[in-house]
Parts: sequence; C-alpha cells; structure tokens
Amino acid sequence: MKKEINVLIILIILIFLIIGFSYFRTNNTKKNENIQEENNNPFQEYSFYQENNLNRYLNYQENYPNLSLKDVILRVNMNLDHSFYTQTKEVKEFNPLMIVNKYNYVSRDFTPSNLVKVDKFAINGMLLEENCKLAFIEMASKALEDNMNLRAVSTYRTYDYQNNLYNNYVKNDGVEEADTYSARPGFSEHHTGLALDIDNIKTSYTNFLKTEEFIWMMNNAYKYGFILRYPEDKVEITGYMYEPWHYRFVGVEIATYMKEHNLTYEEYYYEFLDK
Ligand code: DAL
Ligand code: ZN
Repeated sequence: MKKEINVLIILIILIFLIIGFSYFRTNNTKKNENIQEENNNPFQEYSFYQENNLNRYLNYQENYPNLSLKDVILRVNMNLDHSFYTQTKEVKEFNPLMIVNKYNYVSRDFTPSNLVKVDKFAINGMLLEENCKLAFIEMASKALEDNMNLRAVSTYRTYDYQNNLYNNYVKNDGVEEADTYSARPGFSEHHTGLALDIDNIKTSYTNFLKTEEFIWMMNNAYKYGFILRYPEDKVEITGYMYEPWHYRFVGVEIATYMKEHNLTYEEYYYEFLDK
C-alpha cells in the first residue's frame, strides 16, 4: 500500500512538472508563433525586414507603440534598441555611401580614398575626398554668385585628431555632455573625408544657424549632393545635438530624395543601402 502511495505521489509531481513546463513554453513563444504564422507577420512586407530581428521588432514596438511598423524595423536595424556605442561594427573599406555613426566605426588606420586638398573656400590644411571636394567647390562658387560666403573650417580628421578633440571635450564637459556634440575617435563622420563643417568667414561656425549662408544651404545644398547631417528634429536617431554647420556629401540624387522625404542618413541608409 505504502509503495502505491509513493508511486502516486511521484506521478502527481511529474504531472505538475509537465504542466508547468508546457505553460512556461507556451507563454514564452506565443507571441513569436502567432507572428510567424503565414500572413500574420505584418513586418514581412518590408524589403528591409530581417527575420532574426523579429523579437527585437516586437519589443521595440511594445516600447514605442506610436511608431509605424516601418520605423520600428528601420530603427531596430539601425541598432537604436541598443545604447549608443554598444553592438558596434567596424566599417572596413571606404565607400562613398558609407555610414559612420555611434554604431559604425572605422579603425585607427582607416584612410579614405582620394583625399585631396581643398584649395579654395577653406582654411589652410583642409582635406576632402575628391568628389566631395569638387562638389563643395562648385557649391561654394555658386553661393558666392549670390553673395554668400561658404568656408570649410573642419573636413577630414584623423583618428588621433578626433581622439584629442573628444578627450578635451570630456575634460571640460564630462562624457555625457561631450557625447551629445562630439563623436568618439573612430566614430566621427569626419574620418570619411565626406563630411565638413562650414562657416561664413565672419561668424563662428557654432553660430552658422543665424547666418544667411545657412538659409542658402537649406535651400540649395541638396542640389550639389550635400545634406544637413544632424538636424534638430532627429536627435534621437543621430545621437547628436543639432549641428547647422555639419554637412555630408551623398550625391545629388540621394540628397534630393532625403530632402523631399525629410530623412536623416540613418533612415535613408537602412531603407535602401543596408546589406
Ligand atoms: N561633431 C560631430 C558629431 C563629430 O564629432 O564628428
Ligand atoms: Zn562636423
């Protein structure tokens, strides 16, 4: 009799264990299974949907219920569900459409192709990638015809230069504040030779927003392939405060599209160029 009671107790324990385990499993995978059923995964219609990011899309959507599906996917693909400077990836080769930001960096020995001197409309010693430089000179020449003075005051930067710059900012303002306006070494778009800071000769570049040249740039930069890289309304995407002086060369076609659709380069890149 005692033996039978023991067997019964073991059986009951086993049944509880099985029920408990299957409850745990169902709960854990329910969301996932539902969404993976055919025709029940609304994310799938987007060409940039990545199946292995599905759980991240679902979590991000829960945290940001007002975002469109498209933005949920793009932002997760950008890595915005991870803190800046985590899950970073090295961009190994120069490419005129490369993206360098708080998740994508270049190494200390990275060198952009075809770096050339900016011999006009620039302070001494400025270097840019050749096509970017040609487009900048063309833009600055056209601007001058409208009595606008554009001058390149910071262009290509080496890793070591950015390292000094960033460390000085950190000394003065602390890491948290410095990160809002300066890239860490390796993570600056200035390393690509495709980005530049502009002033109007008379006013410090930090006051470029207040100049007529800035208005001219807002109306015309895209015609020469340049985009305002860190706009006021996209800080959470770019990770940087508004920088009215910092422009990136992406070519006329992309710059025009980005202006028409009010996109940052992150949004454009992850919709059309991410492979
Ligand atoms: N100020 C920009 C974000 C840079 O440091 O590259
Ligand atoms: Zn800059």
